[in-house]
Amino acid sequence: MDDGFDVVVLGAGSGGYACALRAAQLGLQVAMVESAKVGGTCLHVGCIPTKALLHAAEVADTARDSARFGVRATLDGIDMAAVNSYKDGVVRRLHQGLTGLVRGRGITVVEGQGRLVGPGTVAVGDRRLTGRAVVLATGSAPRTLPGLEVDGRRVLTSEEALALDHVPASAVVLGGGVIGCEFASVWRSFGADVTILEALPRLVAGEDEDSSRALARAFGKRGIRCLLGTAFESLETTDTGVRVTAAGGEVLDAEILLVAVGRGPVSTGLGYDEQGVALDPRGFVVTDERLHTSVDGVYAVGDLVAGLQLAHRGFAHGMFVAEEIAGRDPAPVREETMPRVTYCDPEVASVGLTEAAARAAYGEERIRTLTYDLAGNGKSQILRTQGFVKLVRVEDGPVVGVHVVGARAGELIGEAQLITGWEAHPEDVAPLQHAHPTQHEALGEAHLALAGTPLHAHS
Ligand code: NAI
Repeated sequence: MDDGFDVVVLGAGSGGYACALRAAQLGLQVAMVESAKVGGTCLHVGCIPTKALLHAAEVADTARDSARFGVRATLDGIDMAAVNSYKDGVVRRLHQGLTGLVRGRGITVVEGQGRLVGPGTVAVGDRRLTGRAVVLATGSAPRTLPGLEVDGRRVLTSEEALALDHVPASAVVLGGGVIGCEFASVWRSFGADVTILEALPRLVAGEDEDSSRALARAFGKRGIRCLLGTAFESLETTDTGVRVTAAGGEVLDAEILLVAVGRGPVSTGLGYDEQGVALDPRGFVVTDERLHTSVDGVYAVGDLVAGLQLAHRGFAHGMFVAEEIAGRDPAPVREETMPRVTYCDPEVASVGLTEAAARAAYGEERIRTLTYDLAGNGKSQILRTQGFVKLVRVEDGPVVGVHVVGARAGELIGEAQLITGWEAHPEDVAPLQHAHPTQHEALGEAHLALAGTPLHAHS
């Protein structure tokens, strides 16, 4: 059977479905191929379920620490079946909403494993879908290390970790990046003994060094052991758990090992190579700034394209490509102003350049920084959270980086993103009022101080 469309989207994750929704909105006939569920990694085994677990973890901590607020409550335990049912309910409702939206826009969803078989053709079983444009949106999957086999029982990736039916007594988390820190945080809040093994000298190594340091300190206080600058060496599994040997010889026994050493592109076995779509040595699809691949009429979006692996980057890519196909000449997606959030406790959020990257880009002597301690922020005191807002600016120029550590830092970064995205100077932001008492005020205070007119900050 031959089916003709304007656009065939291969993969219905954040990048793929955003592209399909926008293309349909622009009047194009769209087919979207998906072998699992519409919503992809983010909705089913990524952002959404992990954030539900993190919220349950916060509730557990609030109950455990309630006496700090003068409230007598006890934490009687974690009912993992109930936690999972809450998490799965969130996913289910969002999935229903999304499938309704896709249906409502008239998008043809084709279930099955798609394969690029020609520049404008995707095969799904016996069916051939043709489009004047094909959008590759097959995303990424957890990586592992050579010789380290994921068995789904003792050795898990984030996908199996999300489905655990109990709280592990103890866990070794291999990799202190975003996924490692988020799961370490959840399991610690739920009462597990957690050790993070990270080869680099710091956690969340893509973040500003001050953020990494603050997170390691906070994790240490929470009883999460962080072995930094310590690579994984070997693993033995037993019926009762794992025995991990780290470089340097330290041996760690635990119930489970979470492998969180990054995610790689899903780009093999799908006909990309055979059809001449250029891949880089790691398997990411090579595109130009406008997300065109090396094959005419074939585009790629999201985690399949090397760069930040974030759902909101996928959304932005998807919308961009739909508009590009519709001939609307959209502005290319800018990664520099994309917010980043690690949702552990405390949260680490940022947008723009780290201090080190700004110094490298603009020259040592042109960079000014200001760090405002959340200790001076009323709402943070009320929440009893610690952390900071750090601004990085170019002398007499715009704010090029904002870094926040503390509870709900991810909510603060929305405003920071507007500041860096619009290339505002601290002097532009300083006169804007922030509601009192909010954590947002810390951003206002920091800009006041950086503009030379601090109110509460020390000058
Ligand atoms: P990651 O790249 O953030 O961290 C992996 C860590 O593993 C690195 O710090 C690396 O140094 C370490 N590592 C690698 N090999 C090692 C070894 N042999 N021994 C010890 N440590 C080793 O990757 P992660 O955490 O797996 O996340 C994958 C992607 O998913 C990331 O790009 C992340 O941005 C994205 N993601 C984003 C989330 C968010 O926005 N909140 C949530 C979850 C994932």
